[in-house]
Amino acid sequence: MFTLGKVAIVTGSNTGMGYETALELARRGCRVYLACRSGPVPGEPDPDAETVPRMKRESGSEEVRFRPLDVSLTASVEAFAERFQEEEDRLDVLVNNAGMVGRGSHRRETEEGLELVTATNYIGPFLLTKLLLAPLRRANGNDLQKEEFDVPVY
Ligand SMILES: NC(=O)c1ccc[n+]([C@@H]2O[C@H](COP(=O)([O-])OP(=O)(O)OC[C@H]3O[C@@H](n4cnc5c(N)ncnc54)[C@H](OP(=O)(O)O)[C@@H]3O)[C@@H](O)[C@H]2O)c1
Repeated sequence: MFTLGKVAIVTGSNTGMGYETALELARRGCRVYLACRSGPVPGEPDPDAETVPRMKRESGSEEVRFRPLDVSLTASVEAFAERFQEEEDRLDVLVNNAGMVGRGSHRRETEEGLELVTATNYIGPFLLTKLLLAPLRRANGNDLQKEEFDVPVY
């Protein structure tokens, strides 16, 4: 399924299951975009410094790119989607892995005024998927004029 030359995005792939998913996609020959707000240490920024060299080393692939994304912020999602489409025509696989567990009853809001858990787990992934539907459909042989389509989004 995932062969040489395919393009994948994995959100929240600096750590955990996202990292392992991106690593496996890179091993299988995908060009992988790590869409993250942090490096190996949550909360600590790391554009390109550690995560990418490590994944290149572990996968044996040079096709690994880090692009900043905070899925809880619509401005960040829009900027990511715009930059991605300047770089790539197609997107074969989108893995919406970034997410968080809501704890306690205290309401936390993003700087855009959205409830944090909802923004992170629902609004951000929905918006990202919507903004990337055209490259997803292009890569997966869908007719862009038809309303029904089938694309691999997880
Ligand atoms: N492990 C489980 O048993 C389990 C069960 C149910 C669901 N899940 C879900 O499955 C996914 C992966 O699980 P995991 O155990 O690997 O989780 P994890 O180790 O907590 O990793 C979550 C990832 O999501 C990223 N993330 C969170 N909020 C983000 C945001 N606003 N913007 C960008 N990235 C963000 C984190 O980045 P930072 O490092 O920057 O925080 C981290 O890379 C998560 O969505 C989790 O909620 C996991």
